[in-house]
Amino acid sequence: MSIALIVLAAGKGTRMESDLPKVLHPIAHAPLLWHALRAGQALGPERTIVVAGHGADAVTASASAFDPEVTTVVQEEQLGTAHAVSIAAPALDGFDGDAIVLYGDTPFISQETLDAMAVARTHHDLVVLGFETADPGRYGRLVVEGNDLLRIVEFKDASAAEQAITLCNSGVVAADATLLQALVAEVGNDNAAGEYYLTDIVAIARARGLSATVVRCDEAETLGVNSRAELAAAEAQFQTAARAALMADGVTLQAPDTVFLAWDTVIGRDALVEPNVVFGPGVTVETGARIRAFCHLEGCHVSRGAIVGPYARLRPGAELAEDVHVGNFVEVKNATLAQGVKANHLTYLGDADIGEKTNIGAGTITCNYDGVFKHRTTIGREAFIGSDTMLVAPVRVGDNAMTATGATITEDVPDKALAVARIPQVNKPGVAARLFDKLRARKAKQQKEAE
Ligand code: UD1
Ligand code: MG
Repeated sequence: MSIALIVLAAGKGTRMESDLPKVLHPIAHAPLLWHALRAGQALGPERTIVVAGHGADAVTASASAFDPEVTTVVQEEQLGTAHAVSIAAPALDGFDGDAIVLYGDTPFISQETLDAMAVARTHHDLVVLGFETADPGRYGRLVVEGNDLLRIVEFKDASAAEQAITLCNSGVVAADATLLQALVAEVGNDNAAGEYYLTDIVAIARARGLSATVVRCDEAETLGVNSRAELAAAEAQFQTAARAALMADGVTLQAPDTVFLAWDTVIGRDALVEPNVVFGPGVTVETGARIRAFCHLEGCHVSRGAIVGPYARLRPGAELAEDVHVGNFVEVKNATLAQGVKANHLTYLGDADIGEKTNIGAGTITCNYDGVFKHRTTIGREAFIGSDTMLVAPVRVGDNAMTATGATITEDVPDKALAVARIPQVNKPGVAARLFDKLRARKAKQQKEAE
């Protein structure tokens, strides 16, 4: 069965109190919209259509950044969810198969749930995703009879008896795409909100003698985001689920509640993550690596057997090969560290390539930026960079070469050479003692004057 996704994302999100369209607010470093798109794309849809409205340009750009194949259509005026679905009609031209409607602000619908809807569709013309809740609030209520869904009543239009129903509408709907558009075309706006309700298609379908049913999912999956508080709750829900998933896959999290994951964090089996580690987007950690306490990682790759931290920062483009050690207060950006490289203390490695088994001394800095351009530093294999070396890029240090402690390296160092680049030391006998005497006398005089 071919599938087309229709993701509704035109709403303003007034209660976010934001200049950013609601669906672009992030959870785990990805816009809400991406979470919804990822859930839907697990079904392998032939077409994906996002209905944008408020902030349409930004929403369109975000949808294309997720997947250039996504089509965005613009709903100029938000006249209701049925109207939003009708806006997607031209983009469905020539499509033969099922349409699934998702909301861009509902990030947690699972693949299992969408699969269950696909199964239900083999028996019913219309499938609506519902959930039981203790607190039905302002959700649309599902009126059922056995397995049959009779109609959906919006809260504003519900009688007291209907308001007492605890089976609610998530908003997710599946139906044949052509049928869905035909049903939506019949929806009117004679209701309490004066909106074209997508929910009305159930009663319209029943009147045509078609069948409709409900697939139930956990309330947590249908969590929608309407305010900053709900955004924070959604973030917490994501983090809890992502930590649990990693542990189920064999990753040790010593203090799971203190580890923050991104939407796309990948960590291999038997890796160990100590407390207070933050993962930004684009991180992969291979099996058996160890991320020690208080590290921040973003856009980087850590290979098996590597040890990072405590207190290390890996920025985008940091590539750590097997058995690399990066220690405390070391920052790595856009740099490859080959197998067995050690940079254990107080170091900045930016725009650099470092060969196998090279040791980087404490306080080393690749001076990669001249104020206008960035330049690369290349260090060969099995080299030894002395503590407090400044590597003024572009510069190359050869294989098996050494730099002396405190060197400022501005010219290439040949293989096997030792580079010394610092002011020679001069010892002046007795000068320190005389200086101390002078300073102490001055202090004593000041104290006397103050009395
Ligand atoms: C809707 C459902 C309600 C359900 C609830 C679940 C309708 C009529 N009601 O109500 O039964 O319980 O969701 O959260 O469908 N949107 C557009 N264009 C529009 C209107 C909405 O794109 O013209 C988008 C919104 O951006 C949002 C989604 O559709 O992503 C739902 O709209 P919203 O206004 O939140 O509907 P609810 O009143 O919550
Ligand atoms: Mg809503």
